[in-house]
Amino acid sequence: MEILITDTYEEISKAAARVVAKALNSKPDAVLGLATGSTPLGLYRELIRMHKDEGLDFSQVTTFNLDEYVGLRGDHPQSYHYFMHENLFKHVNIARPNIYIPSGTTDNYEAFCKWYEQRIVECGGIDLQVLGIGGNGHIGFNEPGSSLGSLTRIKTLTKGTRKANARFFKSMRDVPKYAVTMGIGTILKARKVVLLATGESKAQAVVDSLEGPVSSMCPASALQLHRFATYVIDQAAASKLTLDTYEH
Ligand code: PGA
Repeated sequence: MEILITDTYEEISKAAARVVAKALNSKPDAVLGLATGSTPLGLYRELIRMHKDEGLDFSQVTTFNLDEYVGLRGDHPQSYHYFMHENLFKHVNIARPNIYIPSGTTDNYEAFCKWYEQRIVECGGIDLQVLGIGGNGHIGFNEPGSSLGSLTRIKTLTKGTRKANARFFKSMRDVPKYAVTMGIGTILKARKVVLLATGESKAQAVVDSLEGPVSSMCPASALQLHRFATYVIDQAAASKLTLDTYEH
């Protein structure tokens, strides 16, 4: 695993944007796996800047998002459809038919999840998957206990995750209880993975995932099995790491 430790959030965002830009420059029709949450916002801002100032081209890119809340329509301000549109897609030249985000409103989740997995394969597989990490070690909405071989499916959100995300909703009651998420097996199939983490609240999950055993109790620890996984994290998120060989 490659671990890059930076001083500021801006540096995390720029380093991650360079990884994405490199993928697009070497393969203009790359397939990106994308994440939501507060952490990748700076990355998306930087990609938008690179698109506007440097001509970073998304015209042939295909994207698959990790997850979506069950029960929220695409125009709900807290849906991940809305998030992606507002924070990235509407600002770059991506072709709308090339955007895939799990549905939170289908009437047949089983069929939808199967189709989502098939679409990823039909599009050639994910070249680069962007990830955040939950305080409990989740990636996507693969909460602790998720099968390390899991594919796209519905997951029940833990109380902790619902509490962490309640800040975006009017009240805890409004936070959805379920989500559709790519599985850990889906994520492991991506050719390259870049995980971003910032702040002390992620330090335990970061150390568990990098230095702990591979365990479904820390879903991100499955990335130890990946050949090309990079962590881009700040000092606070790195503060519990014990090896002195990480790159600063
Ligand atoms: P955050 O969420 O980026 O908002 O901290 C990350 C996650 O829960 O995966």
